[in-house]
Amino acid sequence: MLNNRRNFVFRVSIVINIAVLLYAAMHLSSNSTTGVDWVPMTVDGSERSAEFRYLNREEMRNYTDTRPPDSSVRILEESTSQKTPSTMPTTNKTASSTASLPDLEKKLTGLADAETSNVTVLEIDDEDALNPMTLAYLRTLLQCNDKDMPAQTLQRGEYWVLKNFVRADHGFIQCHESITYTTHAGFEFLDNVQPLVERWMAPVSLAIHAPGADMAPTVNSIRYLRDCLGNDLIKQFVTFHVFFSHKHVPSSIPNPDTFLQTPYNCTVKPPYDVNANSTYMKAKSLLYPVNVARNVAREAAVTHFILPSDIELYPSPNLVPRFLNMIARNAKPLSTSSKPRVFPISIFEVGAKVQVPSTKTELQAMLKNKTAIPFHKFVCPNCHNIPQGQQWINSSETSQMDVFHVGKRRGKFVHWEPIFIGTHQDPYYDERLSWEGKQDKMTQGYILCVKDYDFMILNNAFLIHKPGIKHYVKNTKRDTLASRQSLYIKNIIMPQLKTLFGKRNGCAL
Ligand SMILES: *[C@@H]1O[C@H](CO)[C@@H](O)[C@H](O)[C@H]1NC(C)=O
Ligand SMILES: *[C@@H]1O[C@H](CO)[C@@H](O)[C@H](O)[C@H]1NC(C)=O
Ligand SMILES: *[C@@H]1O[C@H](CO)[C@@H](O)[C@H](O)[C@H]1NC(C)=O
Ligand SMILES: *[C@@H]1O[C@H](CO)[C@@H](O)[C@H](O)[C@H]1NC(C)=O
Ligand SMILES: *[C@@H]1O[C@H](CO)[C@@H](O)[C@H](O)[C@H]1NC(C)=O
Ligand SMILES: *[C@@H]1O[C@H](CO)[C@@H](O)[C@H](O)[C@H]1NC(C)=O
Ligand SMILES: *[C@@H]1O[C@H](CO)[C@@H](O)[C@H](O)[C@H]1NC(C)=O
Repeated sequence: MLNNRRNFVFRVSIVINIAVLLYAAMHLSSNSTTGVDWVPMTVDGSERSAEFRYLNREEMRNYTDTRPPDSSVRILEESTSQKTPSTMPTTNKTASSTASLPDLEKKLTGLADAETSNVTVLEIDDEDALNPMTLAYLRTLLQCNDKDMPAQTLQRGEYWVLKNFVRADHGFIQCHESITYTTHAGFEFLDNVQPLVERWMAPVSLAIHAPGADMAPTVNSIRYLRDCLGNDLIKQFVTFHVFFSHKHVPSSIPNPDTFLQTPYNCTVKPPYDVNANSTYMKAKSLLYPVNVARNVAREAAVTHFILPSDIELYPSPNLVPRFLNMIARNAKPLSTSSKPRVFPISIFEVGAKVQVPSTKTELQAMLKNKTAIPFHKFVCPNCHNIPQGQQWINSSETSQMDVFHVGKRRGKFVHWEPIFIGTHQDPYYDERLSWEGKQDKMTQGYILCVKDYDFMILNNAFLIHKPGIKHYVKNTKRDTLASRQSLYIKNIIMPQLKTLFGKRNGCAL
């Protein structure tokens, strides 16, 4: 038994050493840093921290990978082609991202005895950073494919999509090293971008619906966000896509290669600061194609993990490194469940005038004095009930991210519309549904249920809605659209989903 265990540690340690070698080689080959001392490898793992000293000094990758000197927006293709090294581990994309990690580990080590797979081989000193060892381990575990970010003009149903219209300056990002927040909006919601990015501090893929005359203020808003907010975070992290119906093509499409050359005149008020009733979309009574927007933003993300969310939901700080450290640690239930999984994040609202909480402890104090409440408590109290929601609120913040509870979208939670960290393997959103018609994420929820997804709720992470507690307001026009869409889902979409994905007891829309 003990022998077995030693043996396992030994083999895992070899695998990791190899992964690290490859990782190091990749970086050294693409970046001829001078003065790197090569420290000999050891195989028993005991000297691991010494092995990494040179990496820590010279190559410590600031996972945001900012590249100031050559950070002009159009530089990505070149840097990618240089950086796709032949030393990269060959990945056969057969391993589903949602496969349980011990399966991958077994594949790697040839070890059949899963009992021993909870041996901790990672040393994580700082949950808020990703050390080279963790990154190397993630790369091996996730087996994801790196992607390029070319600017493209594409058609998608009745929509034209300007994908990667204005790209973030973060340079080439490997698929395992960060998480992309994917989201969407009309330009009148872009005031949310700054608070969102300040808390996320990682890539954001943002699809903007800009039909007809909404194109000009959209472009001005992008320029204002990049040039006028006093820091470079939006430039660094946010990639903007623009889309519109072929029935509402803007009269002209400004060329980013040109308009990004000139700094924006920041003395004007923010172009997104308008009466929401004044947009072209409202003037023409267009519906908001929320699921086209969600899918455009999601598809363009270059990381393995994604957080598809609404732009008014601000994440708790340090979510990205803490989550990836949890994945790398691979403790239970991550290591024991073989079901596909997503990672829901609890959502709250706070009063209009209060400070958005940064830690769970702060949030708990605000829940106690009622300056924070569970999301949509006054709009639709049961829509966002989450399994063990009250226990989540009661339980104290811990030192590292873990899975709090594994729930299912069944029983009391059969209509649950969670916001979660997932991957590109998860089902897309039905593009026939509009935001005004409501229930726009239900079809995805149904598919997740039929596929028996585990909903691994995260313990310390949370999302806070843009400050201002919402109350129910009757909207007759929207109610009409909602009942029409509801019938459409029931009579047209549901039978199709049953044919395509099958049925499962307890699953409903
Ligand atoms: C990441 O890199 C940026 C720019 O190179 C630098 O300003 C920042 O301090 C770095 N962050 C860390 C955590 O090293
Ligand atoms: C990769 O996939 C090909 C075809 O699917 C298969 O023949 C080959 O054995 C796989 N290689 C590895 C290393 O799994
Ligand atoms: C796995 O972890 C559990 C609890 O953390 C521990 O009791 C058990 O001994 C570990 N198994 C092995 C083989 O290390
Ligand atoms: C910026 O706009 C203001 C107000 O419209 C104007 O007075 C100023 O001259 C402009 N600055 C530049 C550099 O164009
Ligand atoms: C927008 O229009 C609606 C309906 O015409 C009206 O109730 C609402 O107050 C308007 N909103 C603003 C910000 O003017
Ligand atoms: C509620 O609690 C938060 C966090 O402790 C505190 O900052 C805030 O001032 C409190 N507000 C009221 C009205 O008591
Ligand atoms: C949460 O805590 C409160 C007060 O400590 C307690 O009354 C309640 O039973 C707890 N609820 C759950 C579900 O643990």
